[in-house]
Amino acid sequence: MTSFVIEPQKPGDAAAIEAMLDASFGIGRRVKTSYRLREREEAAEGLSFVARDAAGVLVGAISFWHLRIGGDRVAALLLGPLAVHPGHQNQGIGLALMKHGLAAARVLGHGLVILVGDAPYYARVGFQPVPEGQMMMPGPVDLRRLLALELKPGTLAHAQGLILPPHRVI
Ligand SMILES: CC(C)(COP(=O)(O)OP(=O)(O)OC[C@H]1O[C@@H](n2cnc3c(N)ncnc32)[C@H](O)[C@@H]1OP(=O)(O)O)[C@@H](O)C(=O)NCCC(=O)NCCS
Repeated sequence: MTSFVIEPQKPGDAAAIEAMLDASFGIGRRVKTSYRLREREEAAEGLSFVARDAAGVLVGAISFWHLRIGGDRVAALLLGPLAVHPGHQNQGIGLALMKHGLAAARVLGHGLVILVGDAPYYARVGFQPVPEGQMMMPGPVDLRRLLALELKPGTLAHAQGLILPPHRVI
């Protein structure tokens, strides 16, 4: 078992995180629609965390990004990427990173988080499928994998339409 701590990402972590994402997702990750939503954007302030093992080696990472949804431009966060180094998976690190990140997002006052991922895994922290037809992504995605978690009750119902980065308008 890996013993690990979770702490805020430091500027010097970027290269190790990129290498870990390539190892976990494969380099095809760069063509995904979620990746495109993050392109040329800054990660949400105070919401990028890493997991380090006892020797200080980076073994996992999570970040969140700002989004706007639909004509009302409802604010939301995009969760991801979340990755755990292949040598350290299935030891609770991914779940711990998610719980830590979501708790921090709550404290910062964010109301809604969405992501594209495997429902059975993300259901462990409360994510549920977005009702069919409620949201669209600006690129190819399996909409059955589009999941949402309300941090403030009632936010999901208002988030209807196209999901875009914060500075892009329809
Ligand atoms: C997905 C990922 C972040 C999970 O992190 P992790 O630290 O390995 O996971 P945890 O230890 O927190 O949770 C492990 C549990 O989740 C389950 N699980 C892991 N990935 C899953 C998935 N994609 N779908 C369903 N269940 C999954 C495991 O089977 C395990 O179940 P158990 O507790 O019943 O044994 C990590 O495996 C990873 O980086 N994978 C490669 C990148 C990737 O595929 N990401 C996309 C996820 S949609």
